[in-house]
Amino acid sequence: MKSKIETLRHELEQHNYNYYVKSSPTISDFEFDAKLRQLQELEAQFPEFFDPNSPTQRIGSDIASGFEQVAHVYPMLSLGNTYSGGEVHEFYERVRKGLNDDFELVCELKYDGTSISLTYENGLLVRAVTRGDGEKGDDVTANVKTIHSIPLRLHGNFPVGFEIRGEILMPWAVFEALNRERESQEEQLFANPRNAAAGTLKLQNSAVMASRKLDAYFYYLLGENLPASSHFDNLQAAHSWGFKISDAMKVCKTIDEVSEFIRYWDVERKNLPVATDGIVIKVNSLLQQRALGFTAKSPRWAIAYKFQAEKALTRLNSVSYQVGRTGAVTPVANLDPVQLSGTTVKRATLHNANIIESLDLYVGDMVFVEKGGEIIPKITAVDKDARFLIGDKVKFIEKCPECGATLVRFEGEAAHYCPNENACPPQIKGKMEHFVSRKAMNIDGLGSETINLLYQNDLLHNIAEIFTLKIPDLIRLERLGTKSAYNIQAGCEKSKEIPFERIVYALGIRFVGETIAKKLAFSFKNMEALEQATFNELIAVDDIGERIAQSVIQYFADSMNIETINRLKLFGLQMRLSDEKLQAHGTSLDGLSIVISGTFSLHSRDEYKSMIEMNGGKNVGSVSSKTSFILAGENTGPEKLKKAEKLGVKLVDEKTFLSMINNEIQTNINQTGLLF
Ligand code: IVH
Repeated sequence: MKSKIETLRHELEQHNYNYYVKSSPTISDFEFDAKLRQLQELEAQFPEFFDPNSPTQRIGSDIASGFEQVAHVYPMLSLGNTYSGGEVHEFYERVRKGLNDDFELVCELKYDGTSISLTYENGLLVRAVTRGDGEKGDDVTANVKTIHSIPLRLHGNFPVGFEIRGEILMPWAVFEALNRERESQEEQLFANPRNAAAGTLKLQNSAVMASRKLDAYFYYLLGENLPASSHFDNLQAAHSWGFKISDAMKVCKTIDEVSEFIRYWDVERKNLPVATDGIVIKVNSLLQQRALGFTAKSPRWAIAYKFQAEKALTRLNSVSYQVGRTGAVTPVANLDPVQLSGTTVKRATLHNANIIESLDLYVGDMVFVEKGGEIIPKITAVDKDARFLIGDKVKFIEKCPECGATLVRFEGEAAHYCPNENACPPQIKGKMEHFVSRKAMNIDGLGSETINLLYQNDLLHNIAEIFTLKIPDLIRLERLGTKSAYNIQAGCEKSKEIPFERIVYALGIRFVGETIAKKLAFSFKNMEALEQATFNELIAVDDIGERIAQSVIQYFADSMNIETINRLKLFGLQMRLSDEKLQAHGTSLDGLSIVISGTFSLHSRDEYKSMIEMNGGKNVGSVSSKTSFILAGENTGPEKLKKAEKLGVKLVDEKTFLSMINNEIQTNINQTGLLF
């Protein structure tokens, strides 16, 4: 059986490489998935053949990893930066004088992601560490294993031990889709793919990380026994072992060739699937690199030429203000249309009042607009020399442009908010959109356009009225067919089965996302109890701080919200935790912080996580002095064991854990498959 498992692993590795590195798969996704499943089943059946570098380990797990800090063997330095062709010339001259000999340069793209250092031993990925402060970084191995273009096992003729450095990137398409999803969930958007990649890499949950589809390119090989004496050849060798190395890499002999490379890629990079922000120029020979050496911060044998963020100069005609569904007010600059990175820009974000203030902006000013890595253009500066015949100084509005309410600003926040939640049109519509959305009530057929149409036609003013919509009224609306009308009605009917915890989320209480909604639902168990919860009761719940508690109190203090909830109750929505969930909910682990580590034989990790939560405990990722105990299976990580010993944290095995939580509770969990 061992050889069958190994053959499957080998085959899957090859297909992974064909798909993610070479971009030329030789089998269908379906066949790949079938093979992967087969391997998963065999590995579960024969745990003695466990391999941390098996293709199945790329799927990610839901254990929070908590990151160990690891010292870099070779410090991770940065590069000297320049924006000017002249300085690239000076770099060339410095190298020429410093070497006193012929030399070659390698030009490559500067990828704009987050840097990573991988260590391989005997062809296996053993560690992945972030840059950190350059001296030490976070061990993110579990997360990095979910990136399919990173080989877990090498092929060919590789050195026994080496490090390879590169950039982890979130492709534009993934970034855009992620931001669309976040927008629909009212979560804060990532400003650019770099931030998104860095944020993703630090996620505590490698299963979510796996779903984010990161990519990685490698550009620097380090070690004692490298295969070649030049940087270029080493990277080509690394390519043959399975690493993704950019095709955009060129050996140049003259400064003209370097300039040509820069000119070409400054335009062509816009067609790449990932973000780049410049060109890196490196001396090719390793001997010559050594001869030039390093300054305290960066190598003398390399320089980064950064592309100018594309800028345009145009006139600011006015500032308007958009009110979002949470009441946040965003200032938007209306501009004379101007061409920027191939699109016509007419509007740019001004973010908030502080930014407006620091720009010292007047209507009529000539302003610089930039796109940079960001999707939405922004104003970065004012051309004060061009200032004549200008209008008024731009001053942030005091009243909501949609409803006239006086705006408020929360302590410590830059944004202004309209507090008129129940009567401000974009907030009313936004609340309804959130209520019907997929993760909330999931009412089919009611998109934002239909909600807008119903609102405009005076048929819908608040979330409760969604359940009073009548087929004839719906059909009478322009653009809405009979089929859609029946769909909406069926969707409303079906939503009456949506469990209580999702109703709590659907209400759209500020700062109450999916996870917090679940915590509230499981702590207070029904709507009345939640309505009456005091500030102290709220902050006693795990993960609920003062800001959320305040927001919940404020929500239920509003009589209109109470009235809406009462109407929803009458329409038959689930206003209490189901009996099954109530029964399954014990208190034996109340207030305990528990780390899950290793592999288990009696229940899956997911089931243990649910059991912890169902019994009042909290599943945390890393061992600290606050950890109550570690639920330890086979192969518990050595770092975790060491830390536990140091801090005197107890280990509890599966059986002991199960006896800690009462048996009745487990039976319930098993029978109903009830998972959080
Ligand atoms: S070489 C000692 N090559 O840019 C030199 N870096 O400020 C090691 N980067 O931290 C870096 N593309 O994250 C190198 N082709 C490339 C690169 C690259 C992106 C990043 C890397 C580094 C930063 C330099």
